[in-house]
Amino acid sequence: MDKRIITTDVTEEDFSLEGSLRPQTLDEYIGQEKTKNTLRVYIEAAKQRHDALDHVLFYGPPGLGKTTLSGIIANEMGTNLKVTSGPAIEKPGDMAAILNNLQEGDILFVDEIHRLNRQVEEVLYPAMEDFVIDILIGKGATARSIRLNLPKFTLVGATTRAGLLSAPLRDRFGVMHHLEFYTVNELTTIVMRSAEVLKVEIDSIGAREIAKRSRGTPRLANRLLKRVRDFAQVKYDGVITHEVACFALDLLEVDQYGLDKIDRRILQTLIVNFQGGPVGVETLAAAIGEDSGTLEDVYEPYLLQNGFLNRTPRGRTASVLAYRHLGYTLPEEETADEE
Ligand code: ADE
Repeated sequence: MDKRIITTDVTEEDFSLEGSLRPQTLDEYIGQEKTKNTLRVYIEAAKQRHDALDHVLFYGPPGLGKTTLSGIIANEMGTNLKVTSGPAIEKPGDMAAILNNLQEGDILFVDEIHRLNRQVEEVLYPAMEDFVIDILIGKGATARSIRLNLPKFTLVGATTRAGLLSAPLRDRFGVMHHLEFYTVNELTTIVMRSAEVLKVEIDSIGAREIAKRSRGTPRLANRLLKRVRDFAQVKYDGVITHEVACFALDLLEVDQYGLDKIDRRILQTLIVNFQGGPVGVETLAAAIGEDSGTLEDVYEPYLLQNGFLNRTPRGRTASVLAYRHLGYTLPEEETADEE
């Protein structure tokens, strides 16, 4: 698979970049107004009661700010943030150790929480509900279980789809928020803010062009900003204008709608190999060499939301917009021409 400039996976560069660009408070955080406003109330209420915040689940496509928001929650609550992920915790004992090391009020962020295995997940149930863990000591007939009390903590879980979570785990979250794609205006503001942090000069139309091509995702906006900055520095006078942004983004093959080579390949495969669909997601994923989970969680949401792709009971279909954008004639138009 090609290395993807608009991948929403966290790259090593993002890790340090996102760290410095990440807003620290709700006031600095741009977008997700509904989530922000309700979180503000819950945080304030918990602080007034000197209590831990209820467990929070963030779900939605990658790169929309789940990790950032968990950091902000810890910061606003004045507590520590511990970060881990579903695949990183293999044994129930690992989870028990993490929980046992928490302090009162700590935020435990579990990314990709849907990937916790069943036994590990079961440690979480009593921990989330009653702040206890049951530890089994010994084996066979002499085995006994002892109960350990935990400090009151807040679990912040993140997943690409709430439906991927088991029902017992999902039910234990008091607060659930779906993170939405950002508007072009919001992303423009984010790009302007990031440019200021990075000390790069940018004009508002240059920022808007980057925003327009960032498929609603701040992680991509910040990554594209960095790439465009390189072009501005080497090929121009260091300032990011509309011209520089267009030049760099065209070279990076990120088009006017923010679609990259892989997005275009998905649509092209649907149109050329499957006559526009409908085709099942597994078949489409196999045709482009991706697994169906990645296709559904990473690529599809933006294509669906922006009307390039339709989801029907019989499978995926390419929309009129997809035909037009990729320069294909619609099947109806072909028949009309022949008549
Ligand atoms: N950087 C990344 N996401 C951001 C956001 N939502 N607000 C401000 N800066 C950001």
